[in-house]
Amino acid sequence: MSTPPTPARLVVLVSGAGTNLQALLDACEDPAYGARVVGVGSDRPGVEGLARAERHGVPTFVKQLGQFDTRDHWDLAMRRAVAGFEPDLVVLAGFMKLVSEEFLAEFPGRVVNTHPALSPSFPGTRGPADALEHGVKVTGATLFVVDGGVDTGPIVAQVAVPVADDDDVDSLHERIKAAERAMLVDAVGRIAREGLSVEGRKVRFGAPTT
Ligand code: GAR
Repeated sequence: MSTPPTPARLVVLVSGAGTNLQALLDACEDPAYGARVVGVGSDRPGVEGLARAERHGVPTFVKQLGQFDTRDHWDLAMRRAVAGFEPDLVVLAGFMKLVSEEFLAEFPGRVVNTHPALSPSFPGTRGPADALEHGVKVTGATLFVVDGGVDTGPIVAQVAVPVADDDDVDSLHERIKAAERAMLVDAVGRIAREGLSVEGRKVRFGAPTT
């Protein structure tokens, strides 16, 4: 009998509702998914994302920016806490803070972020609102490998979502999030099972060929 492969270790960072985290927690219930969430961190105490982790018995931590003298100290505390879980992949899922170059260097090529717009359009924290204001007919969600920019990293996966004439920011964001969760679960599972190769801006699933 062959030994089943060890599931990839995911650390997920959240700042709010955590519905993307929930989708990952649910997917990880199936051993065939190939990953498990070993830790969840947040920059905000008391958010529903942390409660979702606790209900699944996943350890959590909170590092609030305001508790630290400088942003560098906060970032260092975040990356020490994340590193303590020895993650194979760090997933920013509704985490509303930028992490530093030092944070990214600690987990090279292994930090991904999900963003509620079709990159490179509408980076930042107002993806759905900016898409609505611009009048686009199609928007969506993007999973990317985090680099030093704001939502600029190499793209792992995208999903398109139509904009309805009567959408407001909330209705559009909810439609995006439904598609985003499915995209995230699919892509993270593929990264866990197949690996990820990044060459410049080109990303594909599977181990690097060289
Ligand atoms: C998601 O749509 C995510 O893409 C977005 O916040 C939402 C979190 O939802 N992230 C950003 O805008 C980051 N720039 P959730 O807490 O229910 O998963």
